Amino acid sequence: MIHIFNTYDNLSGYAAETIYTTGKKAIQQQDTFHFVLSGGNTPQGVYEKLASESRTDREFWSKTHVYWGDERCVPPDDPQSNYRMANRALLFQVPIPFANIHRIEAEHSDTQKMIEEYESLFPKSPDLVLLGMGADGHTASLFPGSPALERTGQSFIKTEAAVEPKYRITMTPEAIRNAKEVIVLVSCKDKSETLVRVFQKEGSVSKTPARLARDRTWLVDIKAAEIISGLDYLEKEIRFHK
Ligand code: 6PG
Repeated sequence: MIHIFNTYDNLSGYAAETIYTTGKKAIQQQDTFHFVLSGGNTPQGVYEKLASESRTDREFWSKTHVYWGDERCVPPDDPQSNYRMANRALLFQVPIPFANIHRIEAEHSDTQKMIEEYESLFPKSPDLVLLGMGADGHTASLFPGSPALERTGQSFIKTEAAVEPKYRITMTPEAIRNAKEVIVLVSCKDKSETLVRVFQKEGSVSKTPARLARDRTWLVDIKAAEIISGLDYLEKEIRFHK
């Protein structure tokens, strides 16, 4: 389903509410919520709203475990770190036990050892994975034409990015497919043509990796949705919000 919002603020509010509701349902069913965070800029407003809505809910956060879908190979205090952004926008604001925060130590020199350790604690089927999408169609740190798109039998892999920081650790397509729920957050006009490539009938994951999440939940602002909102063949998959 493609949810289209008039403003980024409304998109963020809806996303925060959906995450919180999904988490409470998971905790009710299995006494824990495995939540995989996205990087980049778009999720920041979502994390801030989630923090303000749930900051007093000690039980929720005591049973929520957070992971990352990808991380840049930089120290955790680097301005480009996805961990740093999520800490400032969300995790510093809520009563989540430190032991529930599972950072990807992407700056580690022994990448393979670090990936094996991370895969050993990462849930086989996370309850919710947040993703973003770049204007080139990448998602997580799976870039067009990347060999990582063909990798099977692994949940995480080191990749090279077309943009700085060059090296990243990312979920593989297999790991994304194993998620119980996936929400893709897309804002900004420069992604409007990319969304056409995601949702058009013909197309390849190699050219547009975000097609991996094509049939999942998309939260898109009106600027990014300006082309797809007019496509007849998507009419039944689109829901407009204020
Ligand atoms: C990353 C993200 C990446 C991001 C997209 C969109 O580590 O950069 O995981 O996949 O979601 O590049 O980024 P913006 O939200 O900043 O447009």
